[in-house]
Amino acid sequence: MIVVQNLSKTFLDGTEKTTILKDVHLTINSGDRVAIIGPSGSGKSTLLSILSGLDKPTEGQVIIDGVDIASLDEKELATFRNRKISIVFQAFELVQFFTAYENAMLPLAIRGEIDATKVNSLFETMQLSHRKDMLPSKLSGGEQQRVAIARALASGSEIIFADEPTGNLDAANGKRVLDLFLATVEEHKKTFIIITHDMNIARQMDIIYEIRDGALRVLPN
Ligand SMILES: Nc1ncnc2c1ncn2[C@@H]1O[C@H](COP(=O)(O)OP(=O)(O)OP(=O)(O)O)[C@@H](O)[C@H]1O
Ligand SMILES: [Mg+2]
Repeated sequence: MIVVQNLSKTFLDGTEKTTILKDVHLTINSGDRVAIIGPSGSGKSTLLSILSGLDKPTEGQVIIDGVDIASLDEKELATFRNRKISIVFQAFELVQFFTAYENAMLPLAIRGEIDATKVNSLFETMQLSHRKDMLPSKLSGGEQQRVAIARALASGSEIIFADEPTGNLDAANGKRVLDLFLATVEEHKKTFIIITHDMNIARQMDIIYEIRDGALRVLPN
């Protein structure tokens, strides 16, 4: 379960302060499928960074399965994140000097749990097998996005955050990817938080939140 209390985020740009998130409260139960929508620049990716422990809130707490993530030191947080959380970043964030296959294996390798069968099977489903040994810089945007998704799914973590995970894919690939996410989430009872501009995708989740003017509100689904 993810519990967010009194969360605010202010960025300092020179001397100018901009508050992106204001006193946000949110509870996401284990196994929930959550969509987050909102205009460009409204703070969706910022919220994801804070929920996943990559960025710190200006105020407030993020508590994941009873652990206030601010109470962890850097090493504990890295271990916690590796086990609990996978993220498909909006800009993919692949490691440029690793091949597609190595990138997808990375979270498992960090835990000493290399699983070639798992990654190979994901690459097959994602139609990436022929790109296995290529560096990210040689891949198209959609291929890089699929590698980022394979990495998130290979990890086997309980919580998956996905920031516009179908934004670079054509309709057929987008549908394949979303179906794969939903099947994995269903099968392994994962918690799934997806940021999307696509209401057709949002409506397939259990709950839809909209961020606007720094606040979260539930939209009728
Ligand atoms: N590190 C930072 N320093 C200063 N401002 C930032 C920083 N990160 C984000 N912002 C600002 O916070 C606002 C929200 O950014 P964010 O990336 O969360 O938006 P978003 O809702 O994900 O938008 P999009 O739909 O375009 O991806 C933007 O105005 C952005 O410029
Ligand atoms: Mg964003």
